[in-house]
Amino acid sequence: MKKNLAIVGLQWGDEGKGKIVDILSKAYDCVARYQGGHNAGHTVSVGSRRHVLHLIPSGIFHPSVKCVIGSGVVLDPLAFIEESEAVCDATSASVEGRLFISNRCHLILPYHRALEEAIENQLGDRRIGTTNRGIGPAYEDKMGRRGIRVCDLMNPETLPQKIREQVVEKNRILETLRHPQVIDPQPICDSYAQYGEKIRPFVTDTSVMLNDMIRNGKSILFEGAQGTLLDVDHGTFPFVTSSSAAAGGAAIGLGVSPKHVHAVIGISKAYTTRVGSGPFPTESLDSAGECLRTRGNEYGSTTGRPRRCGWFDGPAARYATMINALDSVAITKIDVLDAFEEIPFCTGYKYKGSTLKEFPADSATLAALTPVYQNIRGWKKSLADLKEWSDLPPAAQDYLKFLSDYLGVPISMVSTGPGREATIHL
Ligand code: GDP
Ligand code: IMO
Ligand code: MG
Repeated sequence: MKKNLAIVGLQWGDEGKGKIVDILSKAYDCVARYQGGHNAGHTVSVGSRRHVLHLIPSGIFHPSVKCVIGSGVVLDPLAFIEESEAVCDATSASVEGRLFISNRCHLILPYHRALEEAIENQLGDRRIGTTNRGIGPAYEDKMGRRGIRVCDLMNPETLPQKIREQVVEKNRILETLRHPQVIDPQPICDSYAQYGEKIRPFVTDTSVMLNDMIRNGKSILFEGAQGTLLDVDHGTFPFVTSSSAAAGGAAIGLGVSPKHVHAVIGISKAYTTRVGSGPFPTESLDSAGECLRTRGNEYGSTTGRPRRCGWFDGPAARYATMINALDSVAITKIDVLDAFEEIPFCTGYKYKGSTLKEFPADSATLAALTPVYQNIRGWKKSLADLKEWSDLPPAAQDYLKFLSDYLGVPISMVSTGPGREATIHL
């Protein structure tokens, strides 16, 4: 039996999951997204073309691979329609028959975005710095057991009533939050009825589909969005997203048993970035951080915001390694470090004079601690597009070995550029 594999981000997202999932997916029968929504931005470079996927799994550029958007994803149907059309245009091929949406996905509606804006505005300096896609409020409605799902969208007779009830409630909350917008339900009912018809060919019971595939010996790659440090349970709460990005989310978000997740690979940059607010112990606010941003082109794939940049955070990555019980790690963007004489690597945290043993739960502690760095010799040579371990200068090999030893897991891949070929397989 082939192994099913989960791919997860180890940091605060944007680790290069899209590239790695694209490369690995050709060996799988199916790629399934299990959480998040169109807050994600997964870049896949095929030849000279760069595609940014938000909802569609990163296996879509392999025609033989089936792609599933699982029930743990919150779906903005318009975002899906636009993205699937863009993929069809880019590939000159239809995605029908190989792209599937769970009938149990919760929907994002326009009032979710209005609520998110109102809440972020109220928070002022304490705002999360969300992607403003309505993700958090949609998950709130799911957990509050009042969300509207894709199966509701498939039923045009009962859908308007469900939308209207929610709009009454949401307008009440928006007024309390002194938000100027009043939501009119009619245009939502009209447009969502149309979206429902457009996405109907893609909708199915994906839990049944995936379990059938598993029974028939097919292999599945579970694609995580965001990263472990943005996971709602295990991340730097409250500066997290609203879903289970860690490997445990794969089973919940797809309706398959945890028994079917056989292996987990964690993706991490060779340094660290973060978009939005929240603690970031190894953030570099000086010219080194600026150099990482410029060399790594660190601007959000979804919102275009500049990413905050800093050094590899060992304790955070070790914590994420534990949460996901990684089999191996894939290190991306090692080429971005080419410019540095010395590379600081955070090996521990000091807090109020003592060394912290565990990754702290409290964001205030994380924001107040002092990282302890070990400086590692740089290589000052271009690693761009290298494909063989033996072509890496000894100093780059040493950096990667140090990182692997620190985490206690082997490195299975090293990425040296955005393209598919710029990859060292170990
Ligand atoms: P994801 O959200 O984890 O899929 O990552 P993003 O796509 O948001 O961000 C990763 C960015 O780094 C994208 O622009 C990729 O094209 C790019 N990238 C991925 N791997 C490498 C690499 O090894 N080197 C360089 N220079 N860029 C890379
Ligand atoms: P991928 O899959 C990086 C961040 C936002 C914000 C927080 C909450 O491309 O790695 P949300 O809109 O989810 O409620 O915002 O999470 N965030 C991401 N950061 N990469 C992502 O996705 C992200 N998705 C959400 O910036 O700090
Ligand atoms: Mg991204």
